[in-house]
Amino acid sequence: MANILDAFKENQTETVVDTTKKVRVGIIGTGWIADAHIASYLKCPDVEIVAGADLIPGKAEAFFKKHGVKVIRCDYKDGEEMVNDKSLALDAVSICTYNRQHAPCAIQALKAGVHVLLEKPFTVTTEEAIEVMRAEKESGKILSIGFQPRLDPNMIMVKDIVQSGVLGDVYYVQTGGGRRRGIPTPFGTTFIEDETAGLGALADIGCYSLDMVLNALGYPKPLTVTGYKSNFFGTDPNYIGYKQCGHPEYYEKFGVDDFAAGFIRLENGTVIDFRIAWAMNLDTSGDTILYGTKGSLRIPSTECWNGSVGGDLVIYHEVAGKQVETVIPQIKEAPNAPTNFDRKIRTFVDAVKNGGKAPVPSSEIIYNQAILDGIAKSAVLGREVVIEVPEV
Ligand SMILES: NC(=O)c1ccc[n+]([C@@H]2O[C@H](COP(=O)([O-])OP(=O)(O)OC[C@H]3O[C@@H](n4cnc5c(N)ncnc54)[C@H](O)[C@@H]3O)[C@@H](O)[C@H]2O)c1
Repeated sequence: MANILDAFKENQTETVVDTTKKVRVGIIGTGWIADAHIASYLKCPDVEIVAGADLIPGKAEAFFKKHGVKVIRCDYKDGEEMVNDKSLALDAVSICTYNRQHAPCAIQALKAGVHVLLEKPFTVTTEEAIEVMRAEKESGKILSIGFQPRLDPNMIMVKDIVQSGVLGDVYYVQTGGGRRRGIPTPFGTTFIEDETAGLGALADIGCYSLDMVLNALGYPKPLTVTGYKSNFFGTDPNYIGYKQCGHPEYYEKFGVDDFAAGFIRLENGTVIDFRIAWAMNLDTSGDTILYGTKGSLRIPSTECWNGSVGGDLVIYHEVAGKQVETVIPQIKEAPNAPTNFDRKIRTFVDAVKNGGKAPVPSSEIIYNQAILDGIAKSAVLGREVVIEVPEV
C-alpha cells in the first residue's frame, strides 16, 4: 500500500523568484473577488500593481486604500479606459468584473496588448467566449481563466489517477454539488441579477464541478446536452438567506437559476450526469463518481468550488479476481502552504514573465463554457441541443 500512496505525494519544490523585472498589473473590477487577487499579487515580489478601475466612482480608490497599495491611477471610468492608458505600460490585468462584463473587458484588454487573467466563468455565452478567443489569437497575449481549484493537490491527484489508466475507459461520470441554502448575495445582487450575472449556480459553481472531471478526462469535446434550470428558491419571498442578509426584497431581483442539471455526451463516448445547486432541500447532490471499465473512482466533492474534496478518494476495482477498494487519502496541506488563489496568480505571473502558456487555457475552458451554454439553451428550448464550437 505504501508504494501506491507514495505515487500521489506532492512534489515539493523551492521556487526562487527573479525580481529584476517587475510585472506591471492592473485590476478591473474591485469588488469581492478582487480582494483575493490583490492579496495574492502582494505575495509576488516581482509584481507591481500599478492601476485599477471600477464602474462605481470611488470604489477602486477605497479598495486600494483598504489594501494599503499606492497605484499610479485608479479613477478611470471603466476598464477600457485603463487598458488604453499607455502611460501605465501595463503587462497584465486581472478581470474581476461580474460575468456579463467578462467578454467585453477581456476583448478590450487583449486588443490593447495586455495579458489577461479572467475570472470564471469564462463568459455567459459560447458566442462571447469565441469572440474573446479571436481577440486572444489576434493579440498573441496570454488569456488564462480563473479556475484555481484545479491547482489544488487533491484535484491534481484526481487527474493523475484518471490519466494513469487505473480506471480503464471512463464511460459514465456523475458530478456536481451544491448547498442547502447558499444563494450568494455577499455584497449586493451582482450574482443574482440577469443583467450582471447572466447565469446562476450553473455557471458560478457548476463550472468547477465540470472542470474537475473534464480536466481529469483531458477535456474531450462535448457533442450534445440536455439541460434543466430552475429558480424556485431565488424567487421565493420567504427565502431565508435574503432575510438573514437584511434584504428581504432580493427575491424581486433574482433573474438567474439556483439549480441546474445536464446530461452531456462527449466525443470519446463518455456521458456526464451533472447537477448543481445554490439552494435545495438536500444536504448534497452527491459525490462525484467516474465509472471505468477497470475501476471506478469516488470523490466526495461537495465543495469542489473550494478545490477541496470532501474526504478520502476510493477506487473500486478487481485485483486477482477479488473485488477491492483502494483508499487514496485526501491531501491535507500545511497551514503555511500557498492557497489555490496564490497558485492561480503565481502561475499566471510566471507565464507572463517567461512567455509561457496560459495555466488554464481558453482552448479547454471553451468546452466547459459550451456545456454551460448548452444547458441554458436546452432548458429554454425543452429539448436536447447539439453543441457547436466554431474553430478559432
Ligand atoms: N475564483 C473564485 O473563487 C471566485 C469567487 C467569487 C467570484 N468569482 C467571480 O468573480 C467575478 C466578480 O465577482 P465579485 O463577487 O467580485 O463581483 P462584484 O459585483 O463584487 O464586483 C464586480 C465589480 O466589477 C465592476 N465592473 C463591472 N464591469 C466593469 C467594467 N467594465 N470596468 C470596471 N469595473 C467593472 C463592478 O462595478 C463591481 O464593482 C464573477 O464573475 C464571479 O464569478 C470568482
